Amino acid sequence: MTAADSKTKYWIEIRVEYQQAPEDWAPYLALFQTFGISNTTQFDNPPAIIGYLYESPSTEDLIKQIEIEFLEKGATQVLLNRVPEEDWSNAWREFFKPKRIGKHWLIQPSWEPAQPLPTDRVITLDPGQAFGTGEHATTAMCLQLLETIDLTDKLIADIGCGSGILSVASCLAGAKEVCAVDSDEVAVDVALQNAEMNQVDYQTLLGAGFDVLSSERTFDLVISNIISAVLIQLSPEVYQRVKPGGHWIMSGIIEQHWPDVKSAAEEVGFKFIEMRQEGEWVAAIFSR
Ligand SMILES: C[S@@+](CC[C@H](N)C(=O)[O-])C[C@H]1O[C@@H](n2cnc3c(N)ncnc32)[C@H](O)[C@@H]1O
Repeated sequence: MTAADSKTKYWIEIRVEYQQAPEDWAPYLALFQTFGISNTTQFDNPPAIIGYLYESPSTEDLIKQIEIEFLEKGATQVLLNRVPEEDWSNAWREFFKPKRIGKHWLIQPSWEPAQPLPTDRVITLDPGQAFGTGEHATTAMCLQLLETIDLTDKLIADIGCGSGILSVASCLAGAKEVCAVDSDEVAVDVALQNAEMNQVDYQTLLGAGFDVLSSERTFDLVISNIISAVLIQLSPEVYQRVKPGGHWIMSGIIEQHWPDVKSAAEEVGFKFIEMRQEGEWVAAIFSR
């Protein structure tokens, strides 16, 4: 290995193949997420799921576990491909395609513009290494739930903003002010770039939950697509931060955790309005 090689960082492309496309990809996507595999895409023909894992000293052991787990759960083979970091951003890009979600949203990669209809609200994204292309059911359901309320002139907090997709959507739907918060520095940078790309203006902040927002700040809407445990933990503070008459849109909930998440929200005072489910993923909207 040359000196230059030793500096090269790699992503491992993991391609899990199946004989037949499952009726529901959600459990397989969830399993990828459990292993920290990102930028996941599934294909029905030929049936496969592909994602990327950043190579580290523990990757070899992790990959052994991944292989065992997926082969036990019906995969026909697990193929690995080492992708140098400089090629990675192009490698996964070919899987992110324009997509329509809900009544009005058209999500398009910045490198592959689609043909919008006059009624479309177009979100242009380069998600980089952040979560949030709209491909995942948890994001898509948030976009659908955003269409159920009037966001005109509203103050919104997007906690766990990832690529900024929901913050961009909120601005395009007429929000007055949006705070996009994420605990991951990369996501915060990406969210800022995506605000610029869509010519919308929102604040991007690095923090966990509401810790970077002064305690007086309250919102008409809090959106949080984060895992169930964090939603439960955040419930009391979300209630403090949502104005009376305001809403909480939550997502990222695996079906079996939904009763606990719903109880946590109701216990602090939220009123349940509606839930959506895609595969094993649940999203919901509550009012205060
Ligand atoms: C599933 S992604 C959602 C991204 C985007 N909002 C979407 O809907 O596609 C969850 C994001 O929440 C962030 N996150 C996790 N826990 C958090 C916390 N306690 N506070 C803020 N961000 C958090 C993660 O870094 C990740 O970017």
